[in-house]
Amino acid sequence: MPIVASHCPQHRFVIVDINEARIAAWQSDKLPIYEPGLDEIVKKTLGKNLFFSTDVNKHISEADIIFVSVNTPTKVFGEGAGRAADLQYWEKTARQILENSITSKIVVEKSTLPVRTAEAMERILNSNGNGLHFDVLSNPEFLAEGTAVRDMEEPDRVLIGGRTTESGQRAVQTLVELYANWVPRERIITANLWSSELSKLVANAFLAQRISSINSISALCEKTEADVSEVAHAIGLDNRIGKYFLRSSVGFGGSCFKKDILNLVYLCEHYGLPEVARYWEQVVKMNEYQEMRFVSKMVSSMFNTVAGKRIALFGAAFKANTNDTRESPALEVCRALLEERADIVITDPQAMDNARHDLGELAKRVTFEADPYAAAKEAHAIAILTEWTQFKELDYEKIYNSMIKPAFIFDGRNLIDHKKLYQLGFNVYPIGKPALTHLQSH
Ligand code: UDX
Repeated sequence: MPIVASHCPQHRFVIVDINEARIAAWQSDKLPIYEPGLDEIVKKTLGKNLFFSTDVNKHISEADIIFVSVNTPTKVFGEGAGRAADLQYWEKTARQILENSITSKIVVEKSTLPVRTAEAMERILNSNGNGLHFDVLSNPEFLAEGTAVRDMEEPDRVLIGGRTTESGQRAVQTLVELYANWVPRERIITANLWSSELSKLVANAFLAQRISSINSISALCEKTEADVSEVAHAIGLDNRIGKYFLRSSVGFGGSCFKKDILNLVYLCEHYGLPEVARYWEQVVKMNEYQEMRFVSKMVSSMFNTVAGKRIALFGAAFKANTNDTRESPALEVCRALLEERADIVITDPQAMDNARHDLGELAKRVTFEADPYAAAKEAHAIAILTEWTQFKELDYEKIYNSMIKPAFIFDGRNLIDHKKLYQLGFNVYPIGKPALTHLQSH
């Protein structure tokens, strides 16, 4: 929203949240999230046409357009537990909007929602009997963390879904005009409400599917001496396949992919399409397999035991340039290695606080070390789990000299020059490529 505000000085934007600490943080020197470039934009707009407040009711009442971005986590109870989206926050918000409205409004779904959610919201909002009219639009957010500012400044597309009624189409045009302040018109596409809601789930499912597909091939590469990077390069040059999102890794993480696929799976089941549900479910299963395959490789390579061995995990964030650790493969690897009774040290330039929080009780058994050199000191192994450029630039000779021998490095992101590491003395285990080891094979 700060980026929208920066391009639309003629409009006033108020971000509301019931969480006082978060609203205070947004107006302080340390924003509640780490996102490159965001600080400057908030600074530029704050107090001019961008405001933050905890007075939700007042600002509902004053607004013409309301963007709803409340969380829609995976349901943990009742029907659909573990898969369906928990819509309780969304529904509460709809009721709150209704209670505090004295004028008609446009309500925009920003949160990722199951297809046909807008129908339920329209029913709640338009059940007022006091002559107010609410148009519900779907405007899914496609930005990725770490590149959020660029993705908002220059989106591949903006998708706006609405009803085909006259009032619905007017509402769609209002939102089109807002985005047209900085997005070229041909990139603003409109669709019916259900296509728009579903497109968000499908986009994430397709992206995650590409990663699971290349990760499945990485397992085969490790058995056959094929190199997954070479395979990805070769197939990606085919324009029909495309080169993006084919980086094999320890697995995908983040708050969206798993949640949205499970949601899609649930929807397919709900609509009586079990074969379609199983097809998409496999994308998540393949990701879990990839994470556990990585851990098994670590344990088997280190003579079938890591109990009591110090292992440095380079990275906790689910990807580089974010402090977000939600569904991070790094933490999955950490949990599995703790099960094996390894002695774990985590280092990450931004995500240590969130890692500590997400690990809960287990965090007590983990050492958090800001300096990667200190983390690796006297370790048996390093596992690279997040593709921070900082990890690329380290002096691996110095690191090697400080480690217990034989020293192992498991590169879950294929980030470092493996030959060079091998020449320094490391036993190197990339993803989807032959291992480079000094150990005698038998
Ligand atoms: C994703 C979508 O990209 C975005 O459009 C949507 O709005 C939200 O979900 P995000 O979760 O921020 O964004 O991260 P993304 O860059 O998509 O990466 C997701 C995960 O996949 C990360 O763990 C990343 O490391 C991993 N990944 C990505 C790979 O393992 N290989 C790749 O080739 C690309």
